[in-house]
Amino acid sequence: MADLNNSYAYASPRFPVFYDAWVFAMFGNTNSETSVYQKYLRSYSHRQVILDLCTGTGRVVRALGEDYSHKSLEDAIIYGIDHAPAMVQRAQATCTPTHPMQEHKWKVASATNFYEALDDGEKVDLLINSAGSISHLLHRRDVQSFLDQVKKSLRPQTGVALISVLVEMIHGPEEKEGPGGSEDLVQDGMGGLILPCEDDGEGLSGYWHKSATKVTWNEDKTVRTDSFYVELHTGGSGAVAWREDLNWGLAVFDEKAWAEDVESAGLKVVNMIPEGDSYQRFYVLSNLAT
Ligand SMILES: C[S@@+](CC[C@H](N)C(=O)[O-])C[C@H]1O[C@@H](n2cnc3c(N)ncnc32)[C@H](O)[C@@H]1O
Repeated sequence: MADLNNSYAYASPRFPVFYDAWVFAMFGNTNSETSVYQKYLRSYSHRQVILDLCTGTGRVVRALGEDYSHKSLEDAIIYGIDHAPAMVQRAQATCTPTHPMQEHKWKVASATNFYEALDDGEKVDLLINSAGSISHLLHRRDVQSFLDQVKKSLRPQTGVALISVLVEMIHGPEEKEGPGGSEDLVQDGMGGLILPCEDDGEGLSGYWHKSATKVTWNEDKTVRTDSFYVELHTGGSGAVAWREDLNWGLAVFDEKAWAEDVESAGLKVVNMIPEGDSYQRFYVLSNLAT
């Protein structure tokens, strides 16, 4: 866990509650991509095993249960895995199985080494990696390790992985120069924000203030760092109860390297759900290749 430094946003124990408020401000209760997941749910003779990798606060796990019903979800085993303990804790506290036989399993593990976190080497029917989380893997060798773990964890022949890539990370810095480069800064999360806070998880209420995001690029323009601060203002005076300077890194998505690495891992891209007007593209990987 060496990479979880003090100001890494997802490692902050205060961040997850704000994250949920922020995502709600951007998307409301709609999870447009759940129709993509729904397409790949299957009924098997065994209990379907779903893995939401980089689960964060469990948004996808919640959406799977709440947005629609599918017979296979009734007794599904749903893993939520993330390397940030605070995010996993929040997911565990906010997600409830939607059926008596549905089982949730929450684990702290890295996307580059998660196979061992699956109980008894359990195989996965549907692996979901949403919201462009893959771009948090900053080095090609991390993406390669991730793909090796996907290969190991997917059920032979029938297992499918849905990997989301943010369109802005496919295009890289020339398409967008950070704050000011976007049509809608609130929609894409880059702008400053004031959001109500009913309970920060420690009983404090008031409002959140997120600063505009500052974007910096490394020298060869392959990795960008997003930095911002989050404050919680409480009471009538709006006093700052806490403030944290936070950041994360995002790597530009290299389509050529990705194609090579998917093949080397023994996986196959069987579909690409095009970005269209969307902010993300899904790669559908199958474990058909041997
Ligand atoms: C953009 S959030 C997405 C959260 C959630 N899937 C959603 O759709 O709301 C990215 C998540 O990826 C997690 N993450 C980033 N790098 C990771 C890694 N190497 N291993 C496991 N989780 C990672 C972060 O902790 C964070 O919770």
